[in-house]
Amino acid sequence: MGLRTLGLLLVGSVSCQPREEGPPPARGAISYDQHIAAGERTPTGDTLANPSSGSAEAKAMGEKLFAAMNCEGCHGTGATGFAAPSLVDGRWRYGGADAALFHSVFYGRPRGMPAYGGLMDQDAIWQVITYLTSQPIPAVVPTQAWR
Ligand code: HEC
Repeated sequence: MGLRTLGLLLVGSVSCQPREEGPPPARGAISYDQHIAAGERTPTGDTLANPSSGSAEAKAMGEKLFAAMNCEGCHGTGATGFAAPSLVDGRWRYGGADAALFHSVFYGRPRGMPAYGGLMDQDAIWQVITYLTSQPIPAVVPTQAWR
């Protein structure tokens, strides 16, 4: 393909008008409200919201699961950080919204967070998230680089 053709193709794609109808919902996609959407069109997909949010029972169960699933072994007792980052300091690399937290636990994250989606059912994952998010954020948190 010559440069001229490439140029025409690029001009062609830039001049596209936004479609009235967006693309069809993607299978298995999650819609993240927190992300910036190109052209202000949020990708379609399921929403993930914690069904056990605010439940004292779920929090208690989540605390037990946090120990039983060995989250503690890496994130430390009380999730305050150990070999892996604190999960109760209000700072998130991958986001602290329900959907982002679910994604972190279900699918894992690339720098050493194992995927638990094959081991824990979804209710159990939400209970652990309830446990984490129901803890008060300390007024002072250490400034720490996490690589
Ligand atoms: C083998 C060690 C290990 C275990 C076990 C582990 N984690 Fe992690 N986790 C990590 C590491 C390391 C990261 C940081 C990953 C990264 O930055 O890509 C992480 C990241 C996370 C994050 C994202 C944090 C952020 O800042 O966005 C969440 C949420 C999380 N873990 C929850 C859990 C829960 C809940 C469990 C137990 C069900 C668990 N982890 C078990 C090592 C572990």
